Amino acid sequence: MEEINHVAVLDFGSQYTQLIVRRVRELGCFAKLYQPENLAEIGKPGAIILSGGPSSTSDEDAPDIDFDLLKSYDVPVLGVCYGMQLLNIKFGGSVKSSKHREYGQAGLFPVVSEGLYAGISAESQVWMSHSDTVDHLADNCKIIAKNQHGTPVSLQWGETFYGIQFHPEVTHSHEGTQILKNFLNTCGELAEFKIEDFKQELIEGIQAKCGNKQVVCGVSGGVDSTVLAVLLNESGVNVQAIYVDQGLMRKNETAEVEANFKRMGVPITVVDASERFLTALAGEADPEKKRKIIGNMFIDVFWDAVGNAEMLAQGTLYPDVIESASNENSKASTIKTHHNRVDRILEMQKEGKVLEPLAELFKDEVRELGATMGIAQDILNRHPFPGPGLAVRCPGDLTKEKLDIIRDCDAIFIEELKASGWYEKTWQAYAGLIPVKTVGVKGDERSYEFATNLRAVISEDAMTADWVDLPTPLLRKVSSRILNEVDGINRVLYDISSKPPASIEWE
Ligand code: XMP
Repeated sequence: MEEINHVAVLDFGSQYTQLIVRRVRELGCFAKLYQPENLAEIGKPGAIILSGGPSSTSDEDAPDIDFDLLKSYDVPVLGVCYGMQLLNIKFGGSVKSSKHREYGQAGLFPVVSEGLYAGISAESQVWMSHSDTVDHLADNCKIIAKNQHGTPVSLQWGETFYGIQFHPEVTHSHEGTQILKNFLNTCGELAEFKIEDFKQELIEGIQAKCGNKQVVCGVSGGVDSTVLAVLLNESGVNVQAIYVDQGLMRKNETAEVEANFKRMGVPITVVDASERFLTALAGEADPEKKRKIIGNMFIDVFWDAVGNAEMLAQGTLYPDVIESASNENSKASTIKTHHNRVDRILEMQKEGKVLEPLAELFKDEVRELGATMGIAQDILNRHPFPGPGLAVRCPGDLTKEKLDIIRDCDAIFIEELKASGWYEKTWQAYAGLIPVKTVGVKGDERSYEFATNLRAVISEDAMTADWVDLPTPLLRKVSSRILNEVDGINRVLYDISSKPPASIEWE
């Protein structure tokens, strides 16, 4: 598909480059990422954006750009951070290294009120991350915004070349999206971003890479792997979904996942490894050891099932790619990435046998893509569920009896959340087990049973979370149902701990 009038984003290595692409797409324009050395292969763009990057323009091997070629496209160009410094040099100015790195919030004071800064506040906040700054300005350059110290942070060369020192793509730049929009407004008509077109592009990529080969993909029933499997199936490639039942899934989950895949016409193999997992976990109470047993066994079981695959597809998303690199604290993404990057997978990757078609997308885009393929909303809007499953919701050693109790409590809690409209308003919710027996009275009899903890949180990225203030009548109903319907529980507690210091899961 030839790209016409799209926004070509040239990647100079910033971890936020994909976020620029995403913001442009959010503004309704089709954007695509390219490496600067492939400048000749960007089709007929309507605008070009040069991203930021970790290098200094004075580095010996600093990434460069073919400036004559860039100019020959004759379209508006925006340089962000490194991109701005590079443009300033290309126009004949210079850049100087600074001793201190400017990192974090800064003031933005536009000098002009049209073009990039139309409708932008006289004093705004932006986010910076750089150490080099522009020094001499080229002859045709004018300053269009400064920071709180009067230093130029935004330049314009001629009529159509712009530069900004800050990162408009991050939310900490309060009016960043408007500045990007203003830039796009200076361009002629740009190609529209439609998820269907994007899907078509993904399908063509999958077909080109897979041909007639058999493609396997691990599925969990979650959004990412389901969308991936359905997309592969729609591409007409020979796909086989593999689902490993570790015995740590929620009530009826395995059967539901299998039924969903069958309904969607995607071939699925369910590997029942529950005995194997529970036997290996028996008597182990240490959280880290439990995780290790589960992680290693999952890889072994999965590998037994897919070892001979000609191609392996993974539902890696863009945040998995960047967060794991930049954020050691993000347990979910590090662990997912860990799974997606074990040695054997890295080997397959070298042989060109790994396919990650969703790696450019963010979660909400994956949901949108899934909706275009008819995947049910209740699958697309499912809460996240951890890889080690119920094991992290059952402190101490695991038994089938304890897991069954969790399953029953959880099913009631989730059912009531859905019935009351609170499921959609929470980011993640579950019932876990507190493996401490306490005394109670059931009927006329003394009981000595476990307690369950209900947890419902809101979060943006799982890094921080707050508990949800669920209405008392709802909690009362859930508690009453659990106490009446679940054998083995005589106490229901509601977890009112934020993260930090608590975590979302109990282990
Ligand atoms: P915590 O408990 O660390 O959880 O606050 C943050 C988010 O990560 C999920 N989680 C995991 N996801 N493998 C996963 O795929 C794991 O080992 C794992 N541990 C926690 C958790 O459900 C929450 O959404």
